[in-house]
Amino acid sequence: MHSSSDAVKPELFGNDKRKIKLDFIYTAKNIIIEEDHIKIETNINSFYLMIYKNGIVRFTTYNKEIDLESSYSIETLEPVYQYKLINDDNISKVVYNHLIIEIQHTPFHISIFKNGKLKYQQKAVAFCDTQSYLFIERSSEAFIYGLGEKTGFLNKNNEKTVMWNSDVFEPHTQSNKELYQSINMFSYIINDQKYGLFLDNPSRVTFDFETNDHESVIISDIGKLDYYIYTGDTLKEIIIQNADLTGRSYLPPLWALGYHQSRHSYESVEELLEIYHNFKQRKIPVDAIYLDILYMDHYKVFTFNEKTYNGVESVLKELKEDGVEIVPIVDPGVKVEEGYSVYDEGVKQNLFCKYPGGKLFTGHVWPGESAFYDFTNERIRKIWGENHKVYTDLGIEGIWNDMNEPSVFYSEGNTMDLSVLHQISDSQVKSHREMHNIYGLGMSMATYEGLQTLTNKRPFVLTRAGYAGIQKYATVWTGDNRSSWEHLEMSMPMCLNLGLSGVSLCGIDVGGFMDNATEELLIRWTQMGVFLPFFRNHCSIGMRRQEPWTFSKRGEKITRKFIRLRYELIRFLYSEVYKSHKDGVPMMKPLVLKYEDDPKTYSIHDQFIIGDNVMVAPIVRPGETARKVYLPTGIWFNFFTNEKYKGNQFIIADATLDQIPVFVKAESIIPLTDWCMNTEKLSNKIKINVYSNGNDFKDSFVIDDGRSLTGKYKQVEVNYHNKEVEVKETGSYEVNFEYEINIIK
Ligand code: GLC
Repeated sequence: MHSSSDAVKPELFGNDKRKIKLDFIYTAKNIIIEEDHIKIETNINSFYLMIYKNGIVRFTTYNKEIDLESSYSIETLEPVYQYKLINDDNISKVVYNHLIIEIQHTPFHISIFKNGKLKYQQKAVAFCDTQSYLFIERSSEAFIYGLGEKTGFLNKNNEKTVMWNSDVFEPHTQSNKELYQSINMFSYIINDQKYGLFLDNPSRVTFDFETNDHESVIISDIGKLDYYIYTGDTLKEIIIQNADLTGRSYLPPLWALGYHQSRHSYESVEELLEIYHNFKQRKIPVDAIYLDILYMDHYKVFTFNEKTYNGVESVLKELKEDGVEIVPIVDPGVKVEEGYSVYDEGVKQNLFCKYPGGKLFTGHVWPGESAFYDFTNERIRKIWGENHKVYTDLGIEGIWNDMNEPSVFYSEGNTMDLSVLHQISDSQVKSHREMHNIYGLGMSMATYEGLQTLTNKRPFVLTRAGYAGIQKYATVWTGDNRSSWEHLEMSMPMCLNLGLSGVSLCGIDVGGFMDNATEELLIRWTQMGVFLPFFRNHCSIGMRRQEPWTFSKRGEKITRKFIRLRYELIRFLYSEVYKSHKDGVPMMKPLVLKYEDDPKTYSIHDQFIIGDNVMVAPIVRPGETARKVYLPTGIWFNFFTNEKYKGNQFIIADATLDQIPVFVKAESIIPLTDWCMNTEKLSNKIKINVYSNGNDFKDSFVIDDGRSLTGKYKQVEVNYHNKEVEVKETGSYEVNFEYEINIIK
């Protein structure tokens, strides 16, 4: 119990034996309704409570004055006013629909009940200098999901992790607590007790689900304590509430779902052409080829190297005409060099981050000494967006944002100096220490908005760094992984927890970035990649090449077969992207998200569901040709052989090197097309696989032109009734499609 104002919690800091003196809120007084919120005065400060229409409860404290305005992440939600406040001796109750928020005055506790059942129990709130501490009841038996991009397995309970966007070059292992993304959101499940929490604070935040046996401690370094409790009844409802608050995934162009090829770096237009011709000649589909940092003139963003990339315009034109997109990398560091227009304009128009006192902040990245745009400011974001005209004039519609933690070489903490100031608006300035985790989000926001304005099409943005809400502007990839079997396996829980934190569109470097892939590893990774929301093969300079043809003929044959499969599935995949963009549920799901009533699914990290009914169980060990697969309740079909299985059992699935175990649940459909060289060449003939267990059912998919902003869609409804199939189209997308029905039973 934390009832004294000067408790000491040294055990929170592991081996660090410093005594930290915490000032606890130990009593609440004067609990009153004020406009759209309830004000709780405490012995330290005021605590504000708001309830939103969809059952999200917000608490925020501020030492000086109330600040309930929106942040960089959150969407405008409608607060409710129809609650009752009942003040009693030591307890005040706020009653709204099925929710009761109980505030115990002394010692200060908050409990949230729904339909009479306890959901959330807050034990204490404390402060120490600029830091805030939130103590919440926790069982070590509970399951905790989310927390964005983290190493390790699916369940994050009994672990401690830190949110601080970092460029982590060393191999990502469970001891790397900080990675490129920071998403302060998790879902908590123990039996029927479920809630979600999002802490809106972009400074360094520690989530400690480890140190103290019965409590979680969430420590934010600086800035306001501002958090939201999701009171949904299921994991899915919690995830949707998070999407209501922090936004749904952007809708990328269809080509973003195709196969993408990258390497650091294709060093010249000749090499770029050679890669493209290899795909063409070998009949391996590809939708995008990436230009890593060597395309630039001395790593200067918004330039091309005039020697090695001379003639880039005509090459890009040729590729574009053939349906292949080019995605150049753009880093935030602008080379300090007089005469370089991006730098000169930055200085002239006051676009760069500065130290207090006005001195320009510079740090060393690829171009050498560089200055950094201040993406927290709307005016500056707009100018950054406009810079992309250099690319869009060449027909480029997708941009890759890297190094945007921001990464700064040879500096303390490998990032921007924490005292640097961000000029959020004319009246608001905050330190980098307070705003750090926002930097990448701001960069992607600026890039996305710039591309959309310049092209008037759906942009594609790929980012390494981000914060809650990044899904509105970019696809996320998990940074510099390794060509190792461990990293192949970890790709799944990493992407799954990103999805459970709001980021539906994510992927990893297929084949691994650092170290040398083997043919077997590349094959197994490519097989998994086919089913990931984002499918890009990328590899570091100096490492063994890993384009699909760079191993033996056998390797080429198998990877080609699977890349083609991506295109056979692409209508289905894009429809799932669209659904996720609409409903806020990730397209790549852990089993627990679909089968929450089945505890056997809670810890499964090495299988996933794509869409609603396609179960993927990749092989993640060398030499293995079979693996254990859990099939939850229902009837399942092997996607490749149509063999039928009863669910609610573990099976052993065979998968020689040219196979991956994939199962489809009965009472669902998959729209398939013939493979093609890229999405521009996609056929309008769709074969609909109808997986039946004899019962009547309905399923649907969505088609559109995959590129424009018109919002014209065709919804294709498939009705399986009395063993007959009826296909009905609705919506305003006017292109004709031919359907062939294939019933599997
Ligand atoms: C970073 C990126 C990597 C890229 C490299 C060079 O390490 O994470 O993907 O290839 O920089 O730009």
